[in-house]
Amino acid sequence: MTNRELINEAKKAREKAYVPYSNFMVGAALVTKDGKIYHGCNIENAAYTPTNCAERTAFFRAVYEGERDFSKIAVVGAPKGMEADLLTAPCGVCRQVMMEFCDPETFMIIMPDGKGGIIEMLLKDLVPFGFGPDNLK
Ligand code: THU
Repeated sequence: MTNRELINEAKKAREKAYVPYSNFMVGAALVTKDGKIYHGCNIENAAYTPTNCAERTAFFRAVYEGERDFSKIAVVGAPKGMEADLLTAPCGVCRQVMMEFCDPETFMIIMPDGKGGIIEMLLKDLVPFGFGPDNLK
């Protein structure tokens, strides 16, 4: 699957977003090393802080299914009613969840660049000087 196709998978996931408070719909498509895709959307809450981002929804669904090895994730976001081709980079909490389950040297984050192109970044560049499971060994 190309990164463009993976972005389309994230767009499909975005349609499921539950966003009565921000109206900002986010979708994610997470790929395992053996090629399975797990989709996620953001799920908001009246108390605000329990809100779950699209990326974490995808990770938690995958981890529950027993997955531990991931290669990349596509993330798209935009206000309701807009095409999700804006640049929406993962929040800090989601970056930290990626640090838990992914190799920062190889795991890729794929995002529209807001200008018709695609940004592909390694987790190590999105989280410089990161803290992860290796620090506790
Ligand atoms: N959001 C995500 O789903 N992923 C991110 O990485 C950034 C923020 C969601 C959370 C909230 O539902 C909405 O976007 C506005 O912050």
